[in-house]
Amino acid sequence: MSEFTFLKGSEDWWRQAVVYQIYPRSFADANGDGIGDLQGIISRVPYLKKLGINAVWLSPFYPSALADGGYDVDDYRNIDPRIGTLDDFDQMIDALHAEGIRVIVDIVPNHSGSNHVWFQEALKSPKGSPARDRYIFRDGKGEHGEIRPSELASHFGPSGWTRIIEPDGTPGQWYMHLFASEQPDFNWDNQEVRDDFLKTMRFWSDRGVDGYRIDVAHALIKNLANGHLPERQSYDLSVMKKDGSDDLFDRDEVHDIYKSWRKIFNEYDPPRMAVAEAWVWPHRRPPYASTEELGQSFNFDMLGAGWDAAKVRDVVRLNLKTAADNGTSTTWVLSNHDIIRHATRLGLPNDLDVAKWYAKNRFDPHVNVEQGLARAKALTQALLALPGSTYLYQGEELGLQEHLTIPAEQMQDPQFFRNPDVGLSRDGCRVPLPWARSGQSLGFGPGGSHLPQPAWYVDYSVEAEDGFAGSTLEFYRRALSLRAGLVCEEKWHEVKHWFNSNVLHFKRPNGWQSVTNFGSKPVKLPKGEVILLSQPLVGGKLGPNTTVWIK
Ligand code: BGC
Ligand code: CA
Repeated sequence: MSEFTFLKGSEDWWRQAVVYQIYPRSFADANGDGIGDLQGIISRVPYLKKLGINAVWLSPFYPSALADGGYDVDDYRNIDPRIGTLDDFDQMIDALHAEGIRVIVDIVPNHSGSNHVWFQEALKSPKGSPARDRYIFRDGKGEHGEIRPSELASHFGPSGWTRIIEPDGTPGQWYMHLFASEQPDFNWDNQEVRDDFLKTMRFWSDRGVDGYRIDVAHALIKNLANGHLPERQSYDLSVMKKDGSDDLFDRDEVHDIYKSWRKIFNEYDPPRMAVAEAWVWPHRRPPYASTEELGQSFNFDMLGAGWDAAKVRDVVRLNLKTAADNGTSTTWVLSNHDIIRHATRLGLPNDLDVAKWYAKNRFDPHVNVEQGLARAKALTQALLALPGSTYLYQGEELGLQEHLTIPAEQMQDPQFFRNPDVGLSRDGCRVPLPWARSGQSLGFGPGGSHLPQPAWYVDYSVEAEDGFAGSTLEFYRRALSLRAGLVCEEKWHEVKHWFNSNVLHFKRPNGWQSVTNFGSKPVKLPKGEVILLSQPLVGGKLGPNTTVWIK
């Protein structure tokens, strides 16, 4: 591995980092087979460098049947041949590190893919065998075991149990899967499972990976003692128990696992970082993010705040306080591969249930695109001025909207197929990026694109925005370069506007101020030099849907 130096070489590089999420299959395709790959990422390192990010987080690139976009992992210590090889991976790390960009990879510990050697072995092995014990197999109810063991639903719907055919050809036991049936849940009481993940962490850490994003980190331990089985899904916070006693999520025992991982992370210099994807109640987040465990945990609260000054303010206050109290830094997230792009969400009426709206309006969506983009830029700018790390999702720097009208026959998301009547899909934010104005896949690669790109993607292409004053791309570049100069001190100070509750205004220790106007009327600017505006001023004032940074 090559020698490299980082501008911020400290152990704590991740605390105030801007992390850019790459969905590898849809980022850049070097060999033209329509699927993004590691060589594609390598070819775009100069772009990432110029954007000004500190790290990339790669969604899964492991061998997978793609039943859930790669979150069904068949081999944790290898690369999907469609995406590249381990040599390509080493090259990619070197290329990114050479530019001072750290690398975070996705670890999916709750379930494997159903082609994983262990699951295949379990299918071939008898009931009660050690091979079955690595997963969660149970007998069915009813005279012939034909009734599923419990009423548990899968997060993607409908059932959380699938019945197998035993080696002798007869219908037999059932296995649990919180997600698709191609994603059997591991039994984390099994020591072999625990040991294997430690091995995986060492494998990638030895290759120079700087950190890990832990998929559904709160799900690993279930209440299965004494024949008990969970009867219902509780992924949704509104039904998840708040005290660690839930049957499926956020059980206290899960923390022993992360303590054992931390020991491995700390064997490395610098220690490897990790961030939990744990949709838990805010008061339950601290242990995941403690220095004895993963170190950081996603705060997804902003997704529920919409364009509402009071809600945004509450989320900011709560999360900065919680992080400070717990000696970690918070994480700001507006988009990722699971949710409708924020430039689209914020173009919809404020109090709308966006998922429900999408399911209903998939064939004829009406989005206020201009408002969505203005609010998206303003909110992103405000978050970039706050302490904490910001996680960006590929394409948001282009102002990309969600592709809402992908034909059903081209969809890939299991959530869509398992709920055909509901119509929810996450494919609309996973469409390959437009790099150029022309070409079969708009510069994504020399071939096609595994999900269809809409015609309007042309105007959001890198080529259309690169070097154009006023483009979203140039706005992101400027914002990130200014942010790099923002002192890393984790302090902020809110300025109260007693007469206008529609303003979020705060100061940072270096004298910076950020003001966001959530209201419908222009507001006066504080004194100082304007260093960045998400939209031009209106008659010398800060217009609606706009953020300004002042020095
Ligand atoms: C990932 C999803 C995935 C699920 C199951 C998540 O939270 O972000 O994309 O479908 O875990 O692995
Ligand atoms: Ca390819």
